[in-house]
Amino acid sequence: MPWHDDMHDGFVPAPWEIAPSEGPWEIPAAEDLDPDPGVVAIRLRASSVVARWIPGQETEGWGYEGSTPGPRIEAHVGDRLVVDVVNDLPVMHSIHWHGLRIPAAMDGGAEGPMLAPGESVRLELPLRDAGTFWYHAHHESDEQIERGLYGPLVVRGPDEPASDRERVLILDDVLLDDDGELAPFGLDHAMVGRQGNVALVNGRGRPILDVEAGALERWRIVVASNARYFALDLPGHDAWRIAEDAGPRSRPEPVNWPLLLVPGERVELLVRMSGLAGDEVDLVSQPYDRGPFTRDDDDVPLVRLRYALPGGPLAAEVPSRLRATELAPADVARQTVVMQERHGGHGGSGHGMAFTFDGESWPDVTPRLAAEGDWQVWRLVNETGMDHPFHLHGFRFQVVGAEPVWKDTVNVPADETVEIAVSFDGFAGSWLFHCHILEHAERGMMGLLEVEGTR
Ligand code: C2O
Ligand code: CU
Repeated sequence: MPWHDDMHDGFVPAPWEIAPSEGPWEIPAAEDLDPDPGVVAIRLRASSVVARWIPGQETEGWGYEGSTPGPRIEAHVGDRLVVDVVNDLPVMHSIHWHGLRIPAAMDGGAEGPMLAPGESVRLELPLRDAGTFWYHAHHESDEQIERGLYGPLVVRGPDEPASDRERVLILDDVLLDDDGELAPFGLDHAMVGRQGNVALVNGRGRPILDVEAGALERWRIVVASNARYFALDLPGHDAWRIAEDAGPRSRPEPVNWPLLLVPGERVELLVRMSGLAGDEVDLVSQPYDRGPFTRDDDDVPLVRLRYALPGGPLAAEVPSRLRATELAPADVARQTVVMQERHGGHGGSGHGMAFTFDGESWPDVTPRLAAEGDWQVWRLVNETGMDHPFHLHGFRFQVVGAEPVWKDTVNVPADETVEIAVSFDGFAGSWLFHCHILEHAERGMMGLLEVEGTR
């Protein structure tokens, strides 16, 4: 069936059936080029790469240091991360450090460097927070991230909980044509976002992960998809949330599957491998309705857990407490951001429809104002019939009414309102906030925040 037959405008394609396959699933760590223990120095060269999204098939993608996803950056709180970015793509390129509190001039988006083909730049990033972060393209991000330009960043703190094994799992999907090449980019995806027909974990369709009965594993999960929401289910397995986007929970929180994760979000889990030797269990994403015509018919398998490893002495237990988060103060200034859809006219999408904040379409926006060090409550009002994942660059927030945990990305369900308490304890300058459905962000659903320096 030609690819376009199952891709009517506004409908998501049916996922392909992919058999689980063996092979390396781990994202290799970036080489630290500086012997100084307080400095992690790496190179990220963006170029065309060979992707192995479908078992046994090679596809042209884009990546960093020759692979997609790009290398796993490993560092510690307090380290300085020095990154030499080289743009060997045929297009302009910039990198956003999703979740980091870094100087605005280092962050691709509003102020950070934009590299023409052949250009390079050195970035210096302070690492203030422990957690699971990611870096990704921020110019024409709907196309560049879909092609594979992203990678994980793990920052470890002094008080990490023990586990028997740790894995970084980046969830994504790609939309491929009949030949297994990336389907054309265009306005067809403007409305629901480009939801793929091949789900990926660490750049591979349905890898097999060997696990050990009884082990307590720590999973650092990142969602790098353009538009797909993941409603994770791991039947028969107990798990606990220990950290959200940008910080730990105060204590482990038992997971009630399905666990919903939206584009841009991260979660860290402890997962008890409660199967028996010989068992095979799939981690799947259940159908989720994020708006009209976005729902899959069936579960989408992501990875297969194979209980193959010999049992050894296992030590790790779920801790009773983690690290408490500083609370948002009461009575702070408030702002309202209204998510709207605009019909007709020529703006945004070629289909006469665009999503906006407050009726304004990037780059013609009125900046939001804040002062460094302050707090504000932002009321995110979604007046559209579709969920939107809201992301703020450079700062962290807590969801009002939920357990205080640092986040930088939050789902705002269709026709609902979410309030967030934003801490502007970060860096002054110009910052972006946007919907992390990348087709929405690139077609106008992006705003500007000006943070005035106070120190
Ligand atoms: Cu991960 Cu501006 O986004
Ligand atoms: Cu959106």
